[in-house]
Amino acid sequence: MKKMHIELTVNGQPMETLAEPRELLVHVLRERLGLTGTHIGCETSHCGVCTVDMNGKSVKSCTVFAAQANGATITTIEGIAGADGMHILQSSFREHHGLQCGYCTPGMITRAWRLLQENPSPTEEEVRFGMAGNLCRCTGYQNIVKAILHAASEMSAKEAAE
Ligand code: FES
Ligand code: FES
Repeated sequence: MKKMHIELTVNGQPMETLAEPRELLVHVLRERLGLTGTHIGCETSHCGVCTVDMNGKSVKSCTVFAAQANGATITTIEGIAGADGMHILQSSFREHHGLQCGYCTPGMITRAWRLLQENPSPTEEEVRFGMAGNLCRCTGYQNIVKAILHAASEMSAKEAAE
């Protein structure tokens, strides 16, 4: 099948590759661009492990064709940390034991990153609702929710201090 030329901005860097029109964004990110932090699970839009940020929205990259993403601005888990180290969400997941095997964690953190931009001070219910598309088979969710709420308050305090 004829390959398409795909141009993306990923984690602030312009990137280009060739991909077949039927290829999924998750495969392009992992196999053509080497960004293996985004995981693959169900490939049917249920589990959320493939979540990335595309043009300011969380998307499940197993449900986006590479062709649809042409020209898009994408943030993956590799782009969440800052120059000064882990993002507050990442350290909060570590401190609050928001992961066990870690397979769901890139998708969880990437989704939570967008959620906290949309709603910087969410209630517990809003966190649970906002994260409903991301499944975890290990943690029971309690510590994931705790980690996100803690990160939200840390991020608000940091912003107030700046
Ligand atoms: S791999 Fe995309 S939602 Fe499960
Ligand atoms: S930590 Fe194992 S699936 Fe979430």
